[in-house]
Amino acid sequence: MKDAYIKKFDSVYGSNDSYYGFELRKEFTDYLKKKPLAGQTALDLGCGEGRYSLFLAQKGYATLAIDRSRAGIEKLKKMAGTFQLPISAEVLDIENFVFEENQFDIIVGATVLDHLCRKLRHKTINGIKKSLKPEGALYVNVFTVSDPGYRAKMDAASKIKINPGNISDTAECMEYYFDSNELKSLFSDFKTLYYYEGIEPDLSHGTPHDHAWACLLAQKPALVL
Ligand SMILES: C[S@@+](CC[C@H](N)C(=O)[O-])C[C@H]1O[C@@H](n2cnc3c(N)ncnc32)[C@H](O)[C@@H]1O
Repeated sequence: MKDAYIKKFDSVYGSNDSYYGFELRKEFTDYLKKKPLAGQTALDLGCGEGRYSLFLAQKGYATLAIDRSRAGIEKLKKMAGTFQLPISAEVLDIENFVFEENQFDIIVGATVLDHLCRKLRHKTINGIKKSLKPEGALYVNVFTVSDPGYRAKMDAASKIKINPGNISDTAECMEYYFDSNELKSLFSDFKTLYYYEGIEPDLSHGTPHDHAWACLLAQKPALVL
């Protein structure tokens, strides 16, 4: 992520409100309703202000949250302190994160893989696979090429003018839009628990806009002895 993009996130997280709100995707909260929690560990990659971390920690997960945005991490630390939640939050580039083997019961990457350049994206995907415990769960969502932000990017790059519709005010920070089914196929060695692609309105921040989502819940295979 370019330095200008870090500044953008620092500025949007800088207000008193929560930029993306506290609402989480239903497939994620539904999944956690069924999970045993005692002694479990979670990693939230590109946590932003930490809405997924806060939820995980409230559920009892010892949660490690990392993001490059100092403003996001400071806000999360404050919330974690106020509510005495088991969150360790660090200002860290995913590029410098050391993925250790079989460390986490759940790893979340909510709209972050699409912010990473190709090399880092693939390194991160391999890192997630390594760092999840056997039978651990992954929750990742990204935006796809059906997103108005992608159409706007294509429009800017071509002479053919299209009307992309309203785009997110952080669309400029997007590095990559996933093809249909790409996210699922990148984790084809995992058991898919839930997969969804669809276009939805987003009223959580800035001008109302649409997003084309790909959302994946998947489970790492059990250890074969
Ligand atoms: C769209 S926001 C999503 C935030 C959060 N996951 C959520 O759903 O509320 C993307 C986040 O990824 C972070 N990010 C992007 N590239 C990163 C990198 N290389 N290392 C750490 N964080 C990164 C940004 O700072 C930003 O907070």
